[in-house]
Formats: sequence, C-alpha cells, structure tokens
Amino acid sequence: MGLTVTESSTERIAHSYSGSLYLLPSDDAERQRLLEQHQLFTRLFSGRLIFPPVSLSGKEDILDIGTGAGAWLCDVRSQLPESTQIYGVDIEPRLFPSYKDISANVHLSVCSATSLPRYWSSKFALVHQRLLIFGYTRDQWVKVIDEMYRVLASGGYVQLIETGPNWDSGPKTASHVSFLEEFLGRKGLLLHCSAHIADMLKNAGFVDVRSEDVVMKLGKWAGRDGVEARDATIGAWRGTKDAVMKAGGMGYFATGEDFDKALDDVAEEWDSIEGSYTLMKVVYGRKP
Ligand SMILES: C[S@@+](CC[C@H](N)C(=O)[O-])C[C@H]1O[C@@H](n2cnc3c(N)ncnc32)[C@H](O)[C@@H]1O
Repeated sequence: MGLTVTESSTERIAHSYSGSLYLLPSDDAERQRLLEQHQLFTRLFSGRLIFPPVSLSGKEDILDIGTGAGAWLCDVRSQLPESTQIYGVDIEPRLFPSYKDISANVHLSVCSATSLPRYWSSKFALVHQRLLIFGYTRDQWVKVIDEMYRVLASGGYVQLIETGPNWDSGPKTASHVSFLEEFLGRKGLLLHCSAHIADMLKNAGFVDVRSEDVVMKLGKWAGRDGVEARDATIGAWRGTKDAVMKAGGMGYFATGEDFDKALDDVAEEWDSIEGSYTLMKVVYGRKP
C-alpha cells in the first residue's frame, strides 16, 4: 500500500526476555485483560479447568507454562489438595500474582518454555499451557512440545488451549486476520497454531490425543459473553500495536490512529454481524 509512517505509538511495557519474539505487553492493562479473559473462559468451559482424565490425588506436581497473571494456576490451586505442588513459569515475572495471593505449594519462576530446568525431567502429572499464539515460531512450538514431553512423568497429560484458527465475521475481520498472518509470518510466528497442535503432539510421541472445540461468539449480539470475548480478543490484537508500528505499519497502517481505527472497525463488525465467532481449541494427550 506504500503508506508512510508519520508518528509513533504510545508505548506499553514489553517483556525484557532476551531472544523472545513474544508480541504482547506485560503491563497492568494486560494483567487486567488476562484476569477478565480467564473469567470468560471459566464460563465458556462450564468451569472446567482440566480436560484430560488425569487423576490428581494430592501427591502430584503440575506445571502452568506461560502463566502470566497466574489466573488458571490460582483457580486450579483452589480446587486441589494443598499437598499438590503447582509450578508456574513465564519469561516475564511482572504479571505474576503477588506472594500474598498464593500459598506455599505454588512455585513461580522465570524461564522459557523452550528450555525448562533439566532436573524437571519426568516430574509432572499435568502440564498446562494457554494462549502462546503470539509467542512461538514453528520450530519453537516443536521444541516446547518436546520439553513438555520430557518434563511429564509417564502417564501424565499435557493440555494446550489456543484460539482460532479462524475468526469468522465480515470483510474488516478478514482483512485484519490477513494482516496478522502476514505480520506474524514475517517473524516466523504461527497465527493458525491451533490447527497444528494435535499433529505436533502426536509427532512428539503423545498418545490418546483429543481436541475439543468450544465456540467463542464475538460481539454484542451474543450478550455478555460476546462482549467480553470481543474485548479480550480485540484487547490482545491491540497489544501488538507497538510491534506493528515499530515495523513501520507493514504498509497497512500509516499511524497509530489508523491501527486503532482498524480495530474499532473490527469490533463494530463483530457487534453488527450476528454469527461472528472464533474457536477456543483445547487439545490434550498422554505421555505413554
Ligand atoms: C497471552 S499470555 C497468557 C497467560 C496465561 N496462560 C493465561 O491464559 O491467562 C501469554 C504468556 O506467555 C508468556 N510467554 C511468552 N513466551 C514465553 C516463553 N517462551 N516461555 C514462557 N512463557 C512465555 C508471556 O510472558 C505471557 O505471560
């Protein structure tokens, strides 16, 4: 499109983990978005936090990868015996829940999913990871799933939850999804990762791999859940703004205002086109 960038965006706070391509911010607004999004998922999943048939008697260790604000981890903790040891890792500790909000059986640390501690081999009964869509290249997905396999005990389960692979609505949505595909693609990131996870799990050696698709309706026409799903999704997409504008707007957006307006238009489209939706894809498998 040949647009010229004429101004920079109002910057948010990004992670500072060397070498990571992760696109979303790690600031208070992002923490709030993640906590609200977790409440939405809890309703969409009818309260289910753990999908595979893993038996947890209280003696096990479980791991949440990319725990962020720890929303899933804190809810799981409240449902399991205190003797269960719950680990959370993230490349950025800024979003971690404060120590007064967690208990002695919760262990948070900074590390990348691509390189978990060597001494965690065969440690966990369950490894959970949700919404790393803006975080990994194809090679990193393979590496992370290999790491999940390594740190699981035999008989343990992995559970991954991602959004997409499509966002079905009108032309503004289609155009922004094409843009995202191009933008992420240039970095090697996989916008449509949810379509590949089951195969990646099988390739890594997982068995009994199952997928459950939960429809996430987008827009006012779908009531409170539709409004919250719209805001969570648009909020994440807005979070890419600094990276997009640093890349010169990719020929799509000359200014930060253009970027904001494009996302306002997508949100309006979801409100006005009944039937707009995406999927939350839950994929799990067992280490034999
Ligand atoms: C969109 S947030 C999701 C947070 C949480 N899983 C949830 O569902 O609320 C993604 C999180 O993954 C973290 N992350 C990104 N790349 C990572 C990596 N290579 N290893 C570990 N965590 C990573 C980010 O810092 C961020 O906190």
